[in-house]
Amino acid sequence: MITARPEIETISPYQGGKPIEEVQREFKLDDIIKLASNENPLGPSPKAVAAMKKVVDQVNLYPDGNAYHLRRDLADHLGVGTDQIILGNGSNEILHIIGETFVKPNDEIIYSESAFVVYKLVAAICGAKSVVTPMDGYHQDISAIISAITSKTKIIFIANPNNPTGTMVNVEQTEKLLASVPEHVLVVFDEAYGEYIDREDYPRTLPYIQQGHNVLVSRTFSKIHGLAGLRIGYGVADNRLIGLMNRVRQPFNCNLLAQVSARAALADTDYVLRSKQTNNEEKHYLYKSLAKLKVDYVPSEGNFIMLNLSCSGEVIAQKLLERGIIVRPITGYGFPNSVRLTIGTNEQNRRFIETLSDILEIS
Ligand SMILES: Cc1ncc(COP(=O)(O)O)c(C=O)c1O
Repeated sequence: MITARPEIETISPYQGGKPIEEVQREFKLDDIIKLASNENPLGPSPKAVAAMKKVVDQVNLYPDGNAYHLRRDLADHLGVGTDQIILGNGSNEILHIIGETFVKPNDEIIYSESAFVVYKLVAAICGAKSVVTPMDGYHQDISAIISAITSKTKIIFIANPNNPTGTMVNVEQTEKLLASVPEHVLVVFDEAYGEYIDREDYPRTLPYIQQGHNVLVSRTFSKIHGLAGLRIGYGVADNRLIGLMNRVRQPFNCNLLAQVSARAALADTDYVLRSKQTNNEEKHYLYKSLAKLKVDYVPSEGNFIMLNLSCSGEVIAQKLLERGIIVRPITGYGFPNSVRLTIGTNEQNRRFIETLSDILEIS
């Protein structure tokens, strides 16, 4: 019998949101809305689609493995060097490349109990020890993280804001953390939803890299840029670290369509603004409507909201599914009575609220 590395046996496969087609088949429903994977509800940027169409007949060729143009655009946009940027097949891949590049078996990786699930996967795949720190309510507890640092710590993952709780770590906490980490520890700020935040106390992390802190920032085109299906994200760090990660990265990890449309999406500031405005308006519509239904929620900095129900989140998610609405139960994050709802368009959110209202009345 072929056996896997022992650490692989401990991993449960990542469970994404159910695809729309699967729900259509299973429940024989036509009109399904998916509010389960924190995708952008506006559809892709028309400029990104147009850019993609222009190159679609070139897909017989390998893409530029160094993504020269996209890295140059990103470097200009972010005010960093092109050699400080690595692209990934989604920012998810960046998180994996970090593990593969820097972590050896028995190193320790610190993350919070209800932080984004991929950190746990990365630690397991690398044979590292997961050091899971308690949450402070719905927040990642920076003091607990600092207390967990040892001589074996290699990586600290901070999701900012966190998925699924939607809460953020502020400047003061970030600076307290950075002042406490020793030289051998890399702090990764996963900012998949960072562009949705306007708060003054949200840390601007790129300058910490320029100041010489061991910081890596990961971001994505999947959320505010609306390109989740193309799988493209990036990491920014000191050029030495990026150079090391580039040795591990697959040569053509970002495909041609993704590179070309990411450039167009980055330049489409109207789309980004519209995404942000819609998200803000709809978030407040949902807050108000949930309050009317007396459903508790955690105020969110992202494009999703965690709802606390007075019964099983799995049961409510199933009832919503039967009515054509896909949301995400989050029992695996330690919240059996909660679901995570992606903020949709106004039409989608209204349908969600009406359906939830019906379900809660009859259950
Ligand atoms: C906190 C966080 N980080 C990273 C990702 C990965 O996103 P992607 O691989 O699409 O860039 C997600 C996806 O939902 C996320 O929620």
